[in-house]
Amino acid sequence: MESFVIRGGQRLKGKIEISGSKNSSLPIMAACLMADGRTRLHRVPRLSDISTMSKLLGELGCHVYRNEPDSPPAYGGPALDGPLDIEVLDTDKCVASHDIVSTMRASISVLGPLLARRGKATVSIPGGCQIGDRPIDIHLRGLAKLGAVFHDVDGNVVGEVKGRLKGCRMYLGGPQGPTVLGTINIMCAAALAEGQTIIVGAACEPEVSDCAELLIKMGARITGHGTPEIRIEGVDRLTGTEHYVIPDRIECGTFMIAAAITNGELELKHCNLDHLFAVTDRLEDVGVNVSRENGTIFCSSARRLNAVDVTTQPYPGFPTDLQAQLLALLCLADGMSIVSERIYPDRFVHIGELRRMGARVRKEGSAAIVQGVKELQGATVMASDLRASAALVLAGLVAKGTTRIDRVYHIDRGYERIEQKLAAVGAQIERVKDGRPG
Ligand code: EPZ
Repeated sequence: MESFVIRGGQRLKGKIEISGSKNSSLPIMAACLMADGRTRLHRVPRLSDISTMSKLLGELGCHVYRNEPDSPPAYGGPALDGPLDIEVLDTDKCVASHDIVSTMRASISVLGPLLARRGKATVSIPGGCQIGDRPIDIHLRGLAKLGAVFHDVDGNVVGEVKGRLKGCRMYLGGPQGPTVLGTINIMCAAALAEGQTIIVGAACEPEVSDCAELLIKMGARITGHGTPEIRIEGVDRLTGTEHYVIPDRIECGTFMIAAAITNGELELKHCNLDHLFAVTDRLEDVGVNVSRENGTIFCSSARRLNAVDVTTQPYPGFPTDLQAQLLALLCLADGMSIVSERIYPDRFVHIGELRRMGARVRKEGSAAIVQGVKELQGATVMASDLRASAALVLAGLVAKGTTRIDRVYHIDRGYERIEQKLAAVGAQIERVKDGRPG
């Protein structure tokens, strides 16, 4: 078992290169199932979720190949990976097995592309996970409106299309608002459907727009992405292309909070502050200085932090994927903060672990009430899901003494070499295996 050992109390200072977005890369890789010829993707991060998607695409008949890095390591951090090539070699395979889907829910992103391009798909139905119940009913409803027929067989959803999918106008909102991967699944399928599709209530996240941009380069006709109404004119075929994945706004936001929590000063390279508007708004109220110059964000803090209230919402609201990290910061603010979760009402497993480090937090319904304390203490804590684990790393950076975070495989799913990036700006963090340096 791998763990992180962090000796807290170091002020972070320096530059960090932000990786390409995990949540853009995953559905974009799945969309490559629809293209004829090779697609070259730049800035796909090296993460275990990306390896899982590569394996799934391999099982679905694709050749997935990672090239050598095309740039040297920057700012003392790790070398980021070279471009990823994806080419479809065999279009007969249509099964996303339980073994893969159970380890990564984003596997559902292959459903739309498979139905559109191959006319059939079998995908294991994802179960619940640490952050709550995550149904796929809206994905299925949208694809059914395009003409796919589904039945459940042995825990799998089996979809078929007679002839070709047909475009239509549909509403895709759900009880918690729009669905990100659901919107992408329908948008992908509609790109190869006959006629026009209009998605009303579409997710506006930058990851949806990034995938739309990829599809447009492949030959798709899409407008309105980035707004709640996306219009797609179906085309007969898509062809391989070259694409640069957008910067990871969640990784960037996590490092912004790392600067704030350590009273540090970080320059975050290759990022887009426009994607972090709500995050900047909350951090500035906390008392953090944020500015930008071209693709660099400067983030620093030099004083006690203010308590603030925050509610997670679909984009452009404050992202649920940064809720745990902001909550860790608010544990050290002056006064009481209320953190309300509107996307995943039970996404609060980090509270228990933060309490073990001396935080004063309690959950009330779908909110956490945080009473700021003067300091946190190092402890042995357990990573439970990706973003909760990032919150524990942040808490460990500032806690008195040593923090050990077990089960860091959760962090490896979504943060590219986080310990190397943090060590390069002054953190004392080490990866250990079974208690020994890894
Ligand atoms: C994406 O998941 C992200 N994952 C999640 O990031 C992120 O938390 C989430 O969007 C919300 O921003 C990837 O992009 C790979 P949703 P997704 O469908 O698309 C409900 C991380 O840490 N819903 O937008 O699966 C759902 O339960 C991960 O990187 C339905 O009810 O999320 C939730 O309450 C975790 N029925 C809300 O909609 C459906 O069919 C939004 O979920 C689909 C969703």
